[in-house]
Amino acid sequence: YKRITTRSLIEMKANGEKISMLTGYDYTMATITDGAGIDVILVGDSASNVMAGHETTLPITLDQMIYHASSVVRGVKRALVVVDLPFGSYQSDSKEALRSAIRIMKESGAHAVKLEGGSEIKDSIKKILNAGIPIMGHLGLTPQSIYKFGTYTVRAKEDAEAQKLIDDAKLLEKLGCFALVLEKIPAQLAKKVAESISIPVIGIGAGGDVDGQVLVIHDMLGMNNEFSPRFLRRYMDLHEDMTNAISQYVSDVKSQDFPNENEQY
Ligand code: KIV
Ligand code: NA
Repeated sequence: YKRITTRSLIEMKANGEKISMLTGYDYTMATITDGAGIDVILVGDSASNVMAGHETTLPITLDQMIYHASSVVRGVKRALVVVDLPFGSYQSDSKEALRSAIRIMKESGAHAVKLEGGSEIKDSIKKILNAGIPIMGHLGLTPQSIYKFGTYTVRAKEDAEAQKLIDDAKLLEKLGCFALVLEKIPAQLAKKVAESISIPVIGIGAGGDVDGQVLVIHDMLGMNNEFSPRFLRRYMDLHEDMTNAISQYVSDVKSQDFPNENEQY
């Protein structure tokens, strides 16, 4: 395999090739995702929701993110692996942000980190980039700020927030981020951002006129049938398929159908 790098993603944008990205949290799923040809695996702090069952992304720790990230890295041969810096590991000051990013790179073997926010975290971004660690930005609906927003609805519908988002996107590009996630914002605004910067813009709930798409893998596989935002396309109903398989196993054990003569020593 030819490994995907931050440079390949920038070239893909320049050549008009869309970037595919999914989240990943463990070794086995990462081997499948990578083998299927994904460009980027994001070890998202959505692990807090889908792996640990928390209501928000806030509780997950840096140690837990490193555990997920190192598991994913061991399963990947081709994709670029990007890891979220979790809430509380980069907001207080830029030195702590750099320490957290260094821990992720050293202890997991991942290739880049992602941070939520724009001008507010500019010093941290600079410091991490100065250490040679590539950064993916994240603007729009930034779930680590959910208690500030108070709701998971679409962001930047008003002019002031839209203008700040455009300014932040340009700032992230200028500082040297290699890509940017835009979450749950109007498609027209996302298009405008993608056209006004040269680094790739990867959308989730941000329409098709951006440079790539990302989804949470549990959501696109239909493992979680309670979460149905408009932007989600389900490629499987794994919740139903798993439920059927497991209930069949339960009944086979009860009825002594399993194991049969060929399934024993
Ligand atoms: O944590 C996550 O899954 C994310 C993506 C939704 C972009 O940040
Ligand atoms: Na995230």
